[in-house]
Amino acid sequence: MAALLTTNLGSTPLLGRGKVRDLYAVDGALLLVATDRISAFDHVLGAGIPDKGKILTQISLFWFDLLKDLVPNHLITAKVGEFPAPLRQYADQLEGRSMLVKRAQMFPVECVARGYLAGSGWKEYKASETVCGIELPSGLEDGSRLPEPVFTPATKSPDGQHDENIAYAVMEKLVGADEAAELRRLTLKIYLRAAEHADKRGLILADTKFEFGKTAEGIILADEVLTPDSSRFWDGKTWKPGGAQPSFDKQFVRDYLEEIHWNKQAPAPGLPEEVVERTRAKYLEAFRRLTGREMEI
Ligand SMILES: Nc1ncnc2c1ncn2[C@@H]1O[C@H](COP(=O)(O)OP(=O)(O)OP(=O)(O)O)[C@@H](O)[C@H]1O
Ligand SMILES: [Mg+2]
Repeated sequence: MAALLTTNLGSTPLLGRGKVRDLYAVDGALLLVATDRISAFDHVLGAGIPDKGKILTQISLFWFDLLKDLVPNHLITAKVGEFPAPLRQYADQLEGRSMLVKRAQMFPVECVARGYLAGSGWKEYKASETVCGIELPSGLEDGSRLPEPVFTPATKSPDGQHDENIAYAVMEKLVGADEAAELRRLTLKIYLRAAEHADKRGLILADTKFEFGKTAEGIILADEVLTPDSSRFWDGKTWKPGGAQPSFDKQFVRDYLEEIHWNKQAPAPGLPEEVVERTRAKYLEAFRRLTGREMEI
């Protein structure tokens, strides 16, 4: 079993490679291809997780379908047979892991919803009992459930590294008050629907990040949605506030990197076969638990 680390689609114009996805321009549309790259501590690691890109793409597709009555999304098709003819010769690289999407004018904010305290939210809370300036009750711990989900926007850093949390008022300045309100409304509505679904499957959706864009038809949900890469999922059974919760998908990877005392600077190390295998099993488990069916690979 081999991991696909980089795609090569001949003369198809490459727009860029993110940490995980390769992005191509296809006529007026975009082709998002999720590779098997995996990042940890903000670095792409030297080894990939076979089929991770397929699993994440299928998870996004599952959610786009589940959410389609709440918000339109950018998906045109994920069937390689429906892609423009010149792409079909690359089916072995594209099958299962790519989406042809409408190209949108992206809002320059990451729309984050948090139902629980973790990560940068917990850090800010510890310092000021706020998250993105929103006041929260005293006495919460790392991993605590919030009284109600909050919208905590962030700006995308140009280098793709650290996003910066911003106050809602700052977002209003960036995108305008009306659109900020609409993006907040959509984000919280989608979060609630998704968290409710996850809960039924024994998973906690602690927080998640959406990216919205605009087309001639209005605001659409873009990018990937509600994958382990864009969200914190916790196992409902092991959730215990009072410390960092184990990452559903990347805990074995993080544990290994801590164990070898990697200094978190490039070049990032590879991963032993056992860590790759166990991590792959976690992504498959995420798919199975979220969708209620087995991933077909
Ligand atoms: N429908 C769309 N129209 C236009 N741009 C989109 C659309 N969907 C996603 N994007 C953009 O495509 C890019 C996807 O890149 P990707 O997430 O792989 O890497 P990145 O955001 O640069 O870095 P990182 O790997 O840290 O996420 C993002 O900039 C996202 O905003
Ligand atoms: Mg991204």
